[in-house]
Formats: sequence, C-alpha cells, structure tokens
Amino acid sequence: MLSQDFRSSLPQLVKSISVATKLISPAIGRHHDQAAYIAFRLAEHLGYSEDEIIKITLAAFLHDIGAVSLGENLDQLRFEKDYVHVHAELGAQFLGAFTPFRSLAPIIKHHHRRWNHGEGACIMDEPVPPESHLIHLADRAAVLINNQTNILIHKKNLRERISRQKGTLFRPEHVAAFMDISAKDYFWLDCASNGVDEVLQGLFKWETILVGAEALIDFSRFLSRLVDFRSPLNANHSSGVAASSAALARLAGFNPEECTMMLMGGYLHDIGKLVVPVGILEKDDVLDKNERSIIKAHAYYTHHILAVIPEFRQINQWASHHHERLDGKGYPFGLKEKEISPGAQLMAVADIYTALNEDRPYRKAMSRQQSTSVLNQMVKERALNREYVELLEQNFDEIDCFRCEAQRISNQEYHIINPLFAKKYQRGVKTPDLCSPDA
Ligand SMILES: [Fe+2]
Ligand SMILES: [Fe+2]
Ligand SMILES: [Fe+2]
Repeated sequence: MLSQDFRSSLPQLVKSISVATKLISPAIGRHHDQAAYIAFRLAEHLGYSEDEIIKITLAAFLHDIGAVSLGENLDQLRFEKDYVHVHAELGAQFLGAFTPFRSLAPIIKHHHRRWNHGEGACIMDEPVPPESHLIHLADRAAVLINNQTNILIHKKNLRERISRQKGTLFRPEHVAAFMDISAKDYFWLDCASNGVDEVLQGLFKWETILVGAEALIDFSRFLSRLVDFRSPLNANHSSGVAASSAALARLAGFNPEECTMMLMGGYLHDIGKLVVPVGILEKDDVLDKNERSIIKAHAYYTHHILAVIPEFRQINQWASHHHERLDGKGYPFGLKEKEISPGAQLMAVADIYTALNEDRPYRKAMSRQQSTSVLNQMVKERALNREYVELLEQNFDEIDCFRCEAQRISNQEYHIINPLFAKKYQRGVKTPDLCSPDA
C-alpha cells in the first residue's frame, strides 16, 4: 500500500497522456491542444464555473483518446470521419475506468452529436450533456485550422463555416459565443501557436487538484489498458506483469509500499509500446531490422512518458529498465549489472516469465517446465538475476495463480470493449465535412 503522502497532481497525469499522444501522433496531440483551448474560451465566455471550465477543458484535452487505440491513419485524423461514434465510445470506456476522469466519460462519448435543432439533446432516451455539444464545436473548429497557412487570413472563412452550422450541427448559443470570441486575432494566434498547450496551462488553475495513492494505481491500470487493448494478443500482458512482479517483490522482501509501486511499474512497463504500430506487434513472422528497432525503442518511450510525473521516478526506473541485461547488452541504456536496480532486475524476470506463459503470434504459451528452462538459460547467459529466477521457480504456483487471476479479469474487461474495435470496420456515420466548399 502506498503512503498517504504519495500523490501527484492531475495536470501531471494529463501531461503524461499528452506526451504519449504526441509521440503516437503529433497531429492528434496538436488537435487536442487546439480543441482544449477553444473549449476553454467557449466555457469561459458562456459563464461556466471554474470547476466546470476545468472539466470541459480536460474533456477536450482528451476527447479523441479512444482513437489512439484504433491506431490507423492517426495523422490524417481519419477516425474523425470514419469511426465517429466508435472512437468517442472507446474514449468514454477508457476514461470511465479512472475515477478522476469518470465524469468526463459521458461528455466524450457524445462529442460528435449534432444539435439538429434540439433533437440532439437526447439520443435514444440518453441525455447528451450540453458540454458534449460545446466540445463538438471546439473539435470541428480545431479540425478546420490548417496549421500550414496564415491563420489570420483564414479566420473569416473559418468563422463563416461554423456560423453556417448554427442550429444544425451546433447549439445556437455555442455558435454565438464562438462568433464573439473568434472575432479577436489573439484567439486565432493562440490556437495556431506552437505552445498552445502552454498557453492553456497558464490560463486555468488546476495544479492544486491532487490525486491520491489509490487513484494513481487506477491511473497506471488505465494507461496499461490503453496500450494493451490495441491488440487481442497483448490484451492482458501488462496486468500479468503487474501481478507477478508485485507477488515476486513481496516474496523477495520488498516493503508493502515498494510492492505497490512494483504493481504500478508492471502496469506501465510497456506504455512506450503505444509508439509501435499494431501491425508490428501482431506480426506472425520474423521481424525485419527496421521493425525490430521500432519495438526496441518502446522501453525508451516508457521512460520518456513516465518522466513527466516526478512522483513516478522510482517506478519509472523499474519499468523502463526492464530490457536491461546483467551483461550490459540490454537496451535502451545498455546498463551494467551494478547500474540496474534490484527492482528493475525483478521486473525483467516478471516480464519474461509472463511473456513465456502467454500465447504469441508465432508460438503457443509455454509449459511451466519450458518457461523455467528458458529463464534459467537466460540466467546462465547473464541476462537475468539468478536469485529472482530461483525465487520464482520455488513459488511458481503461487505467482502463477496471481498472474492468471489478474489476466482473467483483464480479459473480461477487454471482451466488454472489444466489440467496439470490431465496429470500426463497419462504416460509421460520417461527420459532415466542414471543409467541403458547400458546407
Ligand atoms: Fe472525435
Ligand atoms: Fe477531435
Ligand atoms: Fe512486457
């Protein structure tokens, strides 16, 4: 269990998601920043309370997070037309699982709902939050911004396009507010600025929102789902590593706080795989040189993403050093034995043990005997720590029980969310293209 002093602030957690999003797709990252800025200005102008402004801005900051898991043509923002309600629903499902973001889920779920002269206030008896309609406008305005051109020259045209959708796509009061705020040049210059996220963060006071220990465990699990659920082949990998590394740490004498940190590190160790295309993760053939180097980089990106959260310094080290080897031939830092902390050495054992006991595209899960023999071979080659491999072998049934249970639960969650991934292949309702000349 983590001490009550172990806490972080919400902006740091959101920033880590933003860093991850920008690594996956700079276009989505920028789109999120711009939509958040526009939503912030709209909410402020419409007289929302400070708490509501924070909620709306956060929802806009994360509104297309579901698309990250869909993982195709992200840079063209194609999901905004082709999988409209699928990515919105996925985002809602992911965020709903993390308590501090739970209230954002209904807003994000409906962020592509048309107003339709009032019909859009409800969809199949489910009320659509007005904030969803607000984010819909912010989102469409952000999509219209062409970052390659002079924004002040296009300002008039962009305003006219939004204005024409008053009552049809957007709520009239939102269009009115937009016309007020977008009349000023600074609004567009802020939007187009390379530092739009910094502009935004300087505008509202949310650094005091603290997230406690329990929520940070939830946050780690939330991020692990984001990376694992991209592919059925990896759907429960991180939960298996989390459960087995925490169990092994307890048996190795780590204290309760360290065991909880190990659990979080297990959830987070592969977060850098968000940068790896799903096609490479699922390839059932030998990877070529280029593909291997892309996969290898994931541990570096795990380090990069987690470095945003200062309280995760120790967790980050254990998580991002999980491919280092005692003989110094590991990656990405090529550390020597003395430079690899015991926690990272333990995480490496838990990661390989978990992977060997899972089905892979190119082989079935190994038996207990096969997997321990591979682990022992890796000890001989000075890849893994002997003490932790022996401890795992001596307590195999107990650790395996924790791993299997964690992976069973994760599988259940995956199967709830999985039909949404299948839906992406059915052509969804397209959002009217505001970029077309007659829009
Ligand atoms: Fe969207
Ligand atoms: Fe969007
Ligand atoms: Fe892993």
